[in-house]
Amino acid sequence: MSSARYEVHGNNTAVITMNNPPVNGLGHELRCGIVDGIDRAAADPAVKAVVLIGSDRAFSGGADIREFGSPKSFAEPNLLTVIRIIEACPKPVIAAIGGVCMGGGTELALGCHFRVAVAGAQIALPEIKLGLLPGAGGTQRMPRVIGVEAALNMILSGNPVPSEKLKGTALFDEFIEGDLLAGALAFAEKVVADKRALKRIRDIKIDYPNQEAYFQFARNMAKGVAGPFPAPFKCIDAVQAAVSKPFDEGIKVERAGFIELMGSPESRALRHAFMGERAASKIPDVPGDTPTRKIARVGVIGAGTMGGGITMNFLNAGIPVTMLEMKQEALDKGMATIRKNYENSMKKGKLTQEKLDQRMGMLKGTMSYDDFKDADLIIEAVFEEIGVKEAVFRKLDEVAKPGAILASNTSTLDVNKIANFTKRPQDVVGMHFFSPANVMKLLEVVRGAATAKDVMATVMQVAKKIRKTAVVSGVCDGFIGNRMIEHYGRVAGFLLEEGATPAQVDKAMEKWGMAMGPFRMGDLAGNDIGWAIRKRRYVEKPSIRYAKFADRLCEKGRYGQKTGKGWYLYQAGNRKAIADPEVEKMLEDYRKELGITPRKISDAEIVARCIYALVNEGARILEDGIASRASDIDMIYLTGYGFPLHRGGPMLYADEVGLYNVVRSMQEFAASSGDSFWEPAPLITKCVAEGKSLTSA
Ligand code: 3HC
Ligand code: NAI
Repeated sequence: MSSARYEVHGNNTAVITMNNPPVNGLGHELRCGIVDGIDRAAADPAVKAVVLIGSDRAFSGGADIREFGSPKSFAEPNLLTVIRIIEACPKPVIAAIGGVCMGGGTELALGCHFRVAVAGAQIALPEIKLGLLPGAGGTQRMPRVIGVEAALNMILSGNPVPSEKLKGTALFDEFIEGDLLAGALAFAEKVVADKRALKRIRDIKIDYPNQEAYFQFARNMAKGVAGPFPAPFKCIDAVQAAVSKPFDEGIKVERAGFIELMGSPESRALRHAFMGERAASKIPDVPGDTPTRKIARVGVIGAGTMGGGITMNFLNAGIPVTMLEMKQEALDKGMATIRKNYENSMKKGKLTQEKLDQRMGMLKGTMSYDDFKDADLIIEAVFEEIGVKEAVFRKLDEVAKPGAILASNTSTLDVNKIANFTKRPQDVVGMHFFSPANVMKLLEVVRGAATAKDVMATVMQVAKKIRKTAVVSGVCDGFIGNRMIEHYGRVAGFLLEEGATPAQVDKAMEKWGMAMGPFRMGDLAGNDIGWAIRKRRYVEKPSIRYAKFADRLCEKGRYGQKTGKGWYLYQAGNRKAIADPEVEKMLEDYRKELGITPRKISDAEIVARCIYALVNEGARILEDGIASRASDIDMIYLTGYGFPLHRGGPMLYADEVGLYNVVRSMQEFAASSGDSFWEPAPLITKCVAEGKSLTSA
C-alpha cells in the first residue's frame, strides 16, 4: 500500500493523505506518493485544488530518520524536488496542518501555495537537534514568512512553537476550528471561487537592513553555546544567504551545508543518540503491548543519599511515596534533606511554594513495614551489604501485597540472589539509579533470571513517567556501566604508573570531551568505593591486574572530596581540584620502587587507552547478552557517565575510528603491557572480518 492516499472529494478537491506511521516521516515511498498525487490532480480536469494532510498525530515529523545513511534518503524525488513539483502545480495546493509539523514536514508545508492549521499544532525546524540544518528550503522560506530573527531563533533552538503563537504571520492563511479536513476543503473551495493567485513563498522579498551586524551578533552568540557542533554556524550562514542572495542561490548554500552536516560525525552521533534513546525503551522479547501493572503508590526503603533522590523523582511526577528508615533520626534527616532540596529549587525560582507543599504533602515517613501494604512498587536503597538486603527482602516478601514490584537499587550485588530471598522472584528487579538520583537521567533496569515480562514492561513505563532514560541490563558484576568503567579506571591507573600525572590524564580526557576525567571522578564518587571493589577482586579474580598506587592513596585516607584530599587537594566548601605535589612525589617514589622509568605519554594515547578499554569491555558485554544492543551501551555512557554527546558513546566512537584501527591499537597495548584484557573481544574481531560495525552488528 502506498504511503499516500489519493481521493477526490465532492467539491472537486483532491486530498492527498500522508500515511506513514508513526509520524509521517517523509521516506522515499511517501515522497513518491505525494508526487503521484500532485501529478494526478494536475492531469484531472475535474480537480480544482489539492489538500495535503497528515494524521491527527502528525502532519509530518520531517525526513524519515530511519532512511538516513541509506541511498533512499537522497533518492529522487528528494524533498526539494517534491516541493518544486508542488510549487509548480498549476492548481492551488493547500497544506492542512495538525499535530506535529517538523523539519521536512514544515518545509513541505512551506512549499504549498496555502497553509491552514488548527490551534495546538506543533511547528518546528528541529534539524539542529540532529546536528543538521533544515535542508529542503526551511532556512530560505521561514524567514520570508515569520521574519528573519524569529526564523533564526526557531532554527537555532529547534524547539516547537504552537501554531497559535504564529497566528498573524504569513505562515498561515487561516486557522480552522473543528475538523481540519472539512475546514481545509472549505478553504480550498474559497480559493477556487475567489480565483486567488497561487502564492509562492520563494517570491516574497526579504527586506532586512543592517543584516551584517545582526548575523555577526548571531555568530558571536552561537560561539558561546555551539561547543563542538558545527550546525549552528551553518544555519546562520544559510539564513544569511536567504537575506543576501536570490532564492535559488540561497537554496544552494543551504543544500551544501545540509550535505556537509549529514556526513559529519557530530550529526551521526546525535542521530545515533536519538534512535538509541527510542531503541533502549524496547526489550526484544517483551512486546510493546505487554500489559503493565498499575503503579499508584511507591515505597522507598532507606532515606540516605540514594533513597532521598529516588523518592524525589516520584514526588516530582505526582506519585505518592512512603519512605522507611530503621531509626527516627535517620528518617528525620532524610525528610529534611528532601525538603531542603526543594527549598533550594524554590530559591532559584524553579519551584513555587505551592508545588513544594504539594510534593512534601505526598511524602510520608515511616518506620513500619505495615505502611507498605498498599504500595505497588517498593524500591530498596539500604546499605550495600547482602545481609542487610536479605533481611529487607524477606520482610518485604511478608508484607507486600501480591503483584507488588520489589526493586533493589544495588550497584554491585547479585539481583538473582536478592530475588531468591523472596518467594516471588518474578516480581523482583534491579532499578539502578545514578547519583544524584533526582538529577541523573540514567536508570539501569536490571533484569533477573526470573523477572516477569510485565514487571519489565511496567518498570520501563514508570521510568518514562519519572523522566529517566531506562536501559535494560542483564545480571553481572557492575551491570553495564560500572563493569565497563572499572576497566577505564584500571587503565588510567597504569597510565600513572608509566609516567602521567592525574591532572594530565584528566585534562586529556576532558579536552576530548568527557565531563570529568577518571581521577576527578574518583575523588567525587569516593576513592574508597573503588578500593573496596579492588580488595574483593584481588580475592575473587586474581587474574585481573591493577596498578596498586590507588590503594596507597586510600591507605592514607585520601578518599577524595569528602576527606578534602584524594588525587587532588580540596579547600573546604570548594569542589575545585588542586594538583597536589605530595601525590606527585608519592607517584615518583612508587615508580622508583617498581623500577619504572617514567615516559612522556601523549594525550592521544591517554584517550585511546581509556576509551578503548570501555569499547573492549562493552563488546564483551554485548557478546554475553548483558546488553541487547550497542546503542544501549552508548545511552548508558551518554546519560550516566558524562560521555561527550558529539561522540555518540563509546561503541559509536569505535565505529567512527574504524574497528580495524581500534584492533590494531589494542594489539599494541596488549604487546606493551602484557595485560590479557587487551585481547580484542571476539565480537570486534568478527565485525572486522565481516566488514561490520559494532552499532550495526
Ligand atoms: N522519521 C521517522 N520516524 C520518526 C521520526 C522521523 N522524522 N520522528 C519520530 N519518529 C519515530 C520515533 O523513532 C518513534 O518510533 P518508535 O515508536 O518505533 O520508537 C516514534 O516516531 C515516536 O517518536 P517519539 O517516541 O519521539 O514520540 P513523541 O510523540 O514523543 O515525539 C516527535 C514525536 C515530536 C515527532 C519526535 O519524535 C521528534 O522530535 N522527532 C524528530 C523530528 C525531527 O527531527 N525531524 C527532522 C528530521 S531531519 C529533516 O527533516 C531534514 C529535512 O530538513 C530535509
Ligand atoms: P546511604 O548510606 O547514604 O543510605 C543508606 C540508608 O539506608 C541509610 O540512611 C540507612 O540508615 C538506611 N538503612 C540501612 N539499613 C536499613 C534497613 N535495614 N532498613 C531501612 N533503612 C536502612 O547509602 P546510599 O549511597 O544511599 O546507597 C544505598 C544503596 O544504593 C546501596 O545499595 C548502594 O550500593 C546503592 N547505590 C549507591 C549509589 C551512590 O552513588 N551512592 C549509586 C547507585 C546505587
